[in-house]
Amino acid sequence: MSRTAALVPAAGRGERLGPGAPKALREIGGVPMLVHAVKALCSAPNIDVVVVAAPADAVEQTRALLSSVAGATDVEVVSGGETRAESVARALIALPDDVDVVLVHDAARPLIPVELVTNVVNAVRAGHRAVVPGLAVVDTIKKVDAAGIVQETVPRADLRAIQTPQGFDRALLQMAHAGVDPDALTVTDDAGLVEAMGIEVLVIPGHEDAFKVTTPSDIVLAEAILARRRAAGAVN
Ligand code: CTP
Ligand code: MG
Repeated sequence: MSRTAALVPAAGRGERLGPGAPKALREIGGVPMLVHAVKALCSAPNIDVVVVAAPADAVEQTRALLSSVAGATDVEVVSGGETRAESVARALIALPDDVDVVLVHDAARPLIPVELVTNVVNAVRAGHRAVVPGLAVVDTIKKVDAAGIVQETVPRADLRAIQTPQGFDRALLQMAHAGVDPDALTVTDDAGLVEAMGIEVLVIPGHEDAFKVTTPSDIVLAEAILARRRAAGAVN
């Protein structure tokens, strides 16, 4: 039988969040972001394996944090790399052989709805080799030159802000990562690697709660969403 895995890059420092613990280990509502994210992935009925790429100096701490979260899902922790792409590549190496569909999900998106995870897996299993969640863009987006002069206003209706989890046929994701220049800091998501190979990527509807925690005000928003969920009786 073929299994589905989720890789969780969690080895970033969180520099834009300011001084403190690595971002994935910072707390939202008293629980580390990574724990929220892994709980959601483990709650999805179609995720069998989770591989976390942890900060190199916090691998044992991360294992301990996640030991009570897994339930029936296999949770592995590996040491992450210097870039996000390297962290994903390290998690890929740790994948069991019987996995044929792989999601990649940022630990920095702790509040993903379980349904979003399920929808991405289902779209890959339905035959799309690369699937990403995306939302319509609310701001007007302009392209500027180095001096800040506007070159172009990009038609907003054509734009999507892309989130994770992103889902892939395993062999395709491995091929995409095999071709990565380890110094290419411009790689910010996995679908970008697949696009560069000329492969079609499908965008499905994303979710507001899948936003990425990047700056301190994102923590305020995440705390508020979690408080609302708890008041409504959610377990996390
Ligand atoms: N990530 C990773 N390994 C790295 C860098 C990033 O696994 N060397 C992960 C982060 O932990 C995060 C995701 O990639 O879950 C998205 O990255 P980002 O939001 O940029 O997080 P950080 O790199 O931690 O934040 P910053 O860029 O502000 O330092
Ligand atoms: Mg970063």
